[in-house]
Amino acid sequence: MMKLNRRAVLLGTGAIGVAALGGSLLGSGRPAQAATAINLTTRRTSFAFNGPTTQGVVSTVDNAPPPVLRLKQNVEAVLNFTNGLPDYTTMHWHGMRIPNAMDGVPYLTQFPIAEGETFEYRYTPPDAGTFWYHPHCMTGDQMAEGMTGLLIVDEAEDPGFDIDLPLNLKGFRLAEDGSFLPYYTARGAARGGTNPNVMTTNWDISPTYEVPAGGLARIRLGVTDITRVYKIVFPDVAGRIIAWDGHPIEEEVPWPTAEAPLILGPGQRVDVAIEAPADAEVELVFNHIIGARSMPLATLRTTGPALGRTLAQLAPLPENPIAKPDIENAEVIEMVFGWSPSDQIPYNGFCGGLPFTFWSIDRSPWPGDAADGTGPVATLEMGKDYILRMRNESPNDHPIHLHGLVFVPISSNKRKIPANYTDTVLLQKSETIEVALRADNPGDWAFHCHVIEHQKTGLAGFIRVV
Ligand code: C2O
Ligand code: CU
Ligand code: CU
Repeated sequence: MMKLNRRAVLLGTGAIGVAALGGSLLGSGRPAQAATAINLTTRRTSFAFNGPTTQGVVSTVDNAPPPVLRLKQNVEAVLNFTNGLPDYTTMHWHGMRIPNAMDGVPYLTQFPIAEGETFEYRYTPPDAGTFWYHPHCMTGDQMAEGMTGLLIVDEAEDPGFDIDLPLNLKGFRLAEDGSFLPYYTARGAARGGTNPNVMTTNWDISPTYEVPAGGLARIRLGVTDITRVYKIVFPDVAGRIIAWDGHPIEEEVPWPTAEAPLILGPGQRVDVAIEAPADAEVELVFNHIIGARSMPLATLRTTGPALGRTLAQLAPLPENPIAKPDIENAEVIEMVFGWSPSDQIPYNGFCGGLPFTFWSIDRSPWPGDAADGTGPVATLEMGKDYILRMRNESPNDHPIHLHGLVFVPISSNKRKIPANYTDTVLLQKSETIEVALRADNPGDWAFHCHVIEHQKTGLAGFIRVV
């Protein structure tokens, strides 16, 4: 592996000045306002899944793993992030439409953060909803060990639920003694990914949570697994899906059943409103299907005297301020996701690459974290509308994620996709999906498959908005 100074290479338009300031001066000159201030440290901790203790899981302070962060829409957040690990890292805020310099992508938007260093991430969330955060340097190792947390942005007005329950869905690859199995395999990376063998919800195997009988519950499901595409079956109860990948739904999504489960790829989130049954001690089970087996992800148990709430009392969630792309006049950009034409070893200075190249975007494999000399997958003009026609020529699923912007699916050659705003769309085997977007956030935005083994073996790039 070639060594270089981590400050030697930084891609991107205008990012150098900002990164050199460490982002800490971005907020200067603004009027003082009440900000959400959070101190975060990545560090090692340990926990047990109904069995031997697992050591070496990466987590953050102030919270038991997995940490849920809560911000408020339109209120500035100051996240003082300290790297407490010997490896380099950065922190990324998945799905957040924030300034590029705060996006946490090594070399593209900032330098990797060394052990003991603190980086101040400071931004004002424009959108309410369910997002998440994870490292973008040493991504594979740190996420495999547990550093994935849900990031909730509360609506400016309380939407009126009796309980709000985040469910962080993630698997781990563990041996009998609780130690980690290899996070990745070459075989997995070249195919559908190396699947976890211990499936957890909030770092617990099939937990049960109490919900008030006759109450309105908001359940936030987030798949933060590095590989697994979930198939989820909801309990048979009065409820509806109210948000998709952070944003209030525009087009209804059917209630998932055993015949038609909810397919949710790594990186995706769904918010559900449930009217809990009036009787106490009723159990509502969210199951997931792996092969022919159905397993409980989480159980809700009703408790207490009936609150008598009904779904009809819920107003629709307020819309997020997303600009609707003009599809008629949008420019079409073709993209193909597939195998790599070369087996060149990815170049990685500090952010933990895998020693193979299997994948590509437009036949060009991303050569590693510090991808000097690699241009953008596409350059979009600020304020203009685009249709990305994304073709998967492989027999594997790819949850394709774009930072900093949201897009809306408008067609698929295989299935009906509800037209809901998203940052991550699951491109299924041999599928072509068209998505529309307005390029309204300037910068170099990472664009990659969220199966981390695919991302780390070529299926990554960036989209430039100027
Ligand atoms: Cu979840 Cu590049 O991000
Ligand atoms: Cu992201
Ligand atoms: Cu992929």
